[in-house]
Amino acid sequence: MTTGASHVLKKRLLLGITGGIAAYKAAELARLLTQGGIDVQVVMTQSACRFVGPVTFQSLTGNPVYSDLWETNAAQNMAHINLSRTVDMILVAPASADFIAGLAHGLADSLLATLCLARDCSLMIAPAMNRQMWENPATQRNLTMLRLDGIKIIGPASGEQACGEIGIGRMVEASVLAETVQAAFQTSSSLESKNVLVTAGPTFEAIDAVRGITNKSSGKMGYAIAQAAVEANAKVTLVSGPTCLAPPAVDKLIHVVSADDMLHAVQAEISETDIFISVAAVADYRVAKISSRKIKKSDKKFSVELIPNPDILLAVASLPRPPFCVGFAAETEDLEKNAEMKRRKKNLPLLVANLAQDAIGSDESELILLDDTGKHVLPKASKTEQARLLIKHISLLYKR
Ligand code: CTP
Repeated sequence: MTTGASHVLKKRLLLGITGGIAAYKAAELARLLTQGGIDVQVVMTQSACRFVGPVTFQSLTGNPVYSDLWETNAAQNMAHINLSRTVDMILVAPASADFIAGLAHGLADSLLATLCLARDCSLMIAPAMNRQMWENPATQRNLTMLRLDGIKIIGPASGEQACGEIGIGRMVEASVLAETVQAAFQTSSSLESKNVLVTAGPTFEAIDAVRGITNKSSGKMGYAIAQAAVEANAKVTLVSGPTCLAPPAVDKLIHVVSADDMLHAVQAEISETDIFISVAAVADYRVAKISSRKIKKSDKKFSVELIPNPDILLAVASLPRPPFCVGFAAETEDLEKNAEMKRRKKNLPLLVANLAQDAIGSDESELILLDDTGKHVLPKASKTEQARLLIKHISLLYKR
């Protein structure tokens, strides 16, 4: 885990640049994408470096630029492997006729070509070439193969070309490409057709017919998260302990009282669940013997035996094929240390930590997200806003 804090996970784009005069337009593209809040990682082919210097892109994106497949430095080799594993999308702009031909045939003769071949994210290309090269049947054949492979082809545009000819083959303008990338990312942060299960609120563990023990929890965060998941087009089931809140428009609402009820409700839904977000403040103990009648008071000391409740999140995360599990930790001290320990103990891809004294009952909170990419701070904001950012973060992690 890295130690440096960052804000909510940024979308990551690998911008591949191949050799062609349109490479100069890629500098403007890198600037627009970076300004638009995208973490841009540039990879250039050797011939692209003849048109524009890597330093230009390094300055514009703030990230090192890679071009050499044979880099021997160990750290950089690792980075090479990770590049295609950690980005959300690859855009090759400009994509030359030669690069397109290699891509269509699965060649891995450059770092960029290798990364395109070894990816598990979507790939878009913006071709740029002389009009005759574009019209050549060989190029068109290659493009047909790329389309069949699910690669999105943007452009080219027509107009005056660098060689002085007029026709189709110019790279689409940087501003249009930047908008296309943003639009594609917008769709990718949706949870369309995903089943999300959220637990919220406290549980109530009866002592007798009228008394019980519970945790301090308003349910606001869990309800806001269920609402944000609905807004992201997920199919949402909310399992709620006792709260005074109006429920969001989820697909299924299940009211429960005790931790045991909550466990059963979750177990009944879990095989259909893609993402499980455990926000509920589940009581860690319950009363060993509940009295069905109201216990009468007396002057004598009174004690109840408490036995541990099942840990619902741990049970779900320990399933042989668990859904993507998100846990919460409200701590009064040593927030990050305790939270990271909980994350590891329960083997969670994501844990959301907050200070109990700040969060409980309040409409605002500061959240710290701990995942395998490090620590991300969501500064104090309304629980509605925090929930939306959290859902975006979850959808990005889930899709990686
Ligand atoms: N949780 C659960 N079932 C329990 C207890 C907790 O599902 N019986 C979930 C909560 O919804 C939350 C996370 O586990 O997502 C909290 O982790 P945990 O270590 O249990 O936190 P605390 O109960 O606060 O633990 P401690 O009292 O030791 O700090």
